[in-house]
Amino acid sequence: MQQVSVGLVGLGTVGAGVARILTQHADRIARRAGSRIDCKWAVVRDLNKKDRRAEFEGVRIVDDVRRVIDDPEVAIVVELIGGIDAARRIVLDALAAGKHVVTANKALLAEHGPEVFAAARAADRAVAFEASAGGGVPIVGAINVGLAANQVQSLAAILNGTCNYILTQMTQEGIAYDAALAGAQALGYAEADPTLDVDGTDTAHKLAILAQLAFRANVKTADIPREGIDRLDLADLKYARELGYTIKLLAHAKLAGGALELRVAPSLVRNDAPLAQVHGPYNAVRVVGDAVGDTFFHGRGAGMMPTASAVVADLIDVATGRALLTSRVLDFWSAASPAVPLLPS
Ligand code: NAP
Ligand code: HSE
Repeated sequence: MQQVSVGLVGLGTVGAGVARILTQHADRIARRAGSRIDCKWAVVRDLNKKDRRAEFEGVRIVDDVRRVIDDPEVAIVVELIGGIDAARRIVLDALAAGKHVVTANKALLAEHGPEVFAAARAADRAVAFEASAGGGVPIVGAINVGLAANQVQSLAAILNGTCNYILTQMTQEGIAYDAALAGAQALGYAEADPTLDVDGTDTAHKLAILAQLAFRANVKTADIPREGIDRLDLADLKYARELGYTIKLLAHAKLAGGALELRVAPSLVRNDAPLAQVHGPYNAVRVVGDAVGDTFFHGRGAGMMPTASAVVADLIDVATGRALLTSRVLDFWSAASPAVPLLPS
């Protein structure tokens, strides 16, 4: 069987999960990918942080990303470091070197999607990004493939596992905001800078990605009015509960008169509504399409193995060639995409 060599850039929460799936389930993945996916390299920032060689035997762990990008055997670079500047450089260099790219980096795509996908088109390489929105919930593929017959009319979603975990801990356990946030960090749900989670920016990044897929709208994060959960306290959640509501951080996108309305805000959700039943680090996305009607996707939105599940799905998609075909046909973030006007906020 043919072998596809992969370089993981980042071996933190998500990278370690990806390496685990690739090594522990190599045969299953090979059957689905049509080739053996070999994790040849892993790049980290600090080689002395902990000894990772024992767990990832056979993976060459280095701190110089050029070792991966300059290796002609590597076909796919998986960017899992997070942040924008270094990640952007790595992704553009990998594409220029003829590698396909898989990334979970919503901040990078939301801020530099047009540049990244122009580089991918110029190199005729795929950029796959299932883990960038919804974590383990396959919402990117669902909108691109499963719902492709539809014009999406609206989308309402819980897209940040950290915020949903914090709100659940506060509502159900009476735990204070700071302690709940510390719990989300310890469990590997939060961004390196958790301000991005709690102030609504991470949700806005994901909404910008989903708006591109669902409406072909080249939305900048700055265009999305947003408010986070950082000013809520236990009393707000308690009063909402007494009135029959749960507070959730929701992302909204809605076509109205040919224009797109977008926002991220803590919202009152009736206790009997499906979005109110989404607890802990789970995400959920309600998508309404003109043909299918109402659909609802639900699952773990953050954490090591759920996110790794989405990244490995992308690796399989790239290895089979499906991701490149999808990228060519769908022309993500293309300047040629018909722009959907945004409603003023
Ligand atoms: P993380 O635990 O902080 O891991 C980051 C990894 O990248 C670490 O191994 C770090 O090295 C390495 N790194 C950082 N800067 C680097 C650089 N300049 N060069 C080389 N290596 C570098 O982060 P994570 O939670 O796995 O998240 C990774 C990405 O996935 C982010 O874009 C995040 O938004 C996204 N994501 C995360 C989740 C989740 O639940 N955690 C879910 C969906 C998407 P050291 O180990 O030596 O520090
Ligand atoms: N920090 C993000 C969250 C990770 O909590 O949802 C998943 O994208």
